[in-house]
Amino acid sequence: MIYLDNAATTQIDPRVIEEMALVQREVFGNPSSSHRLGLQATERLEDSRVRFAKLLGCNVTEVIFTSGGTEADNLAVVGGALASRRKKVLISAVEHPAVVAAAEILATREGRSVHRIPVTREGLVDEMAFRALLDDQVALVSIMHANNEIGTLQPIARLASIVRKAAPGALFHTDAVQSFPLDPLPLSLGKIDMASFAAHKLHGPRGVGAMYLRKGVRVLPVLPGGGQERGIRAGTENVAGIAGFVLAAELMAQQREAIQEKLRGFQDMVWSRLSEALPSLTINGVSTNRISKLLSINVPGLKAQNLLHFLEDVGVFVSAGSACHSTSAKVSSVLKAINAPQDAGTLRLSFSRMTTLEEVEQATTIVIETIQRLRGAGA
Ligand SMILES: Cc1ncc(COP(=O)(O)O)c(C=O)c1O
Repeated sequence: MIYLDNAATTQIDPRVIEEMALVQREVFGNPSSSHRLGLQATERLEDSRVRFAKLLGCNVTEVIFTSGGTEADNLAVVGGALASRRKKVLISAVEHPAVVAAAEILATREGRSVHRIPVTREGLVDEMAFRALLDDQVALVSIMHANNEIGTLQPIARLASIVRKAAPGALFHTDAVQSFPLDPLPLSLGKIDMASFAAHKLHGPRGVGAMYLRKGVRVLPVLPGGGQERGIRAGTENVAGIAGFVLAAELMAQQREAIQEKLRGFQDMVWSRLSEALPSLTINGVSTNRISKLLSINVPGLKAQNLLHFLEDVGVFVSAGSACHSTSAKVSSVLKAINAPQDAGTLRLSFSRMTTLEEVEQATTIVIETIQRLRGAGA
């Protein structure tokens, strides 16, 4: 089996499993209990928060743990907009469905006006169009750091500065689920108000995540209840999952440069071999400003779902465009937004630090042979 679908999820690191098992077994108190076992759980939780804040380069009080990227996105978009009286919400045209659906709720249930910020063919925010949407009625802007389907990295510090100048008082949120921790966020500039993270994209457990909430920024809770996470996100904390998340993030951050170099090598090697063997293939996203783990490739004349299943039959697991949210074969809104060729199937190959060179070489040969075979068969 060769797993090249790491943008969908990653294999959990065995050290993370051990850490989580240890915490589950030995730190089983509820952090809200006032006895010794509760205190022990609180200490473990707060240790995770301190370590996560250190990784982000922020204050401990700015970390809110959640059940994953989707919840962090919903809390930022819905909670942020509801804390403002302003009517306008801007999201980029390539956001993850978690942001899109949260913004739709604001439109349909709260009467807010939601606008999509257009992007270029490379998936970068069209800055002219963006500036034209900004005014003193904007409550919140949400632009993802790295796109999960095509890998484009937005110049997030510049976009956040534009918001500060052209729409003072608006909140700026970025979904950093696919970029963290390999491409750090410029939080120290003080221009990003909220950011979302998920553990399962970095060899941590599924169902755990976090939101960065800049000091002084107010959001309304979307999960009210027992007052955990400073009243911003209620629910008994997933102490073991959070411990696993933070360890996984640390393990990756420690080797940031080496991992980036390895994955960039994979990207270059795969693309040079594919484009040489099959010159009709094109690549989505930008060539320079992109995350290292992902390649999105258009294969003219073939259906991505067919290709994906043929590859699966020979043990290569990839994704058709994006796998995080749907099994439907309809054209992704991201590919539509960048005007990707309509007569092509889009294949997403994504790597991780656990992927080996041998696997990538083998998979590339198999992808080339499969495309040639399907084309020959007229599929
Ligand atoms: C960019 C992006 N945001 C949000 C999410 C949702 O995160 P989660 O699966 O932890 O809910 C994903 C992936 O699933 C993603 O790729």
